[in-house]
Amino acid sequence: MKQNHHELIVDVIKKIFPYYEKNEPGHRLDHALNTLKYGLKLAVFTKLDQQYINDVIIATLLHDIYARVEYHEIHHAMAYKEIMIGGHMYDWFMDTCDKYNSHPSIIQDAVYEHRATYDGKYSNNVAKITAAADRGKPCVKSICERFLTIFPNKKQSELIKIIQKRYGINGYARYPQIYKDYFGEALDMFQVVISNTQLLKKIF
Ligand SMILES: [Fe+2]
Ligand SMILES: [Fe+2]
Repeated sequence: MKQNHHELIVDVIKKIFPYYEKNEPGHRLDHALNTLKYGLKLAVFTKLDQQYINDVIIATLLHDIYARVEYHEIHHAMAYKEIMIGGHMYDWFMDTCDKYNSHPSIIQDAVYEHRATYDGKYSNNVAKITAAADRGKPCVKSICERFLTIFPNKKQSELIKIIQKRYGINGYARYPQIYKDYFGEALDMFQVVISNTQLLKKIF
């Protein structure tokens, strides 16, 4: 990784840290860093033009700044608003994009389109990468642990229903094509296991 990438990552983390601290437990800074990690892997995998790498870094780190319990359903729009004109982060965002030769509108769209429920067309390749990176690794154990953290008070049977509805075969979670290309059969296996209630109970 280039020195300039390190500096950018540190600059952005300093800015976003107070936001992520207020988030629901499954969407803290470790989730943003995990999304960044897969974003960079997917950028290499898809041979993304180098001029857009900083966009991936900024978009993956910013995408969940408002993933708080009270904003869960609108957190993508809240984050988008924050980096648009009039948003609290707008000046810093524009200065950072300027300093690191990145593209504000590409990042803004990627942040808005990141959710698994987004069913429109992705505006650009950075948006595809950000959405794919946000899904994380197709690992059943990690998903179970993540949902236990997000919903500590729900019964196991309720969590299983939520996970199956979202990640099972025919679940509503959307995977950009690059995610399917990158994870291949691992994604198919993941969906098969998630859809099998007996197996899922054993893994929990
Ligand atoms: Fe999100
Ligand atoms: Fe996320």
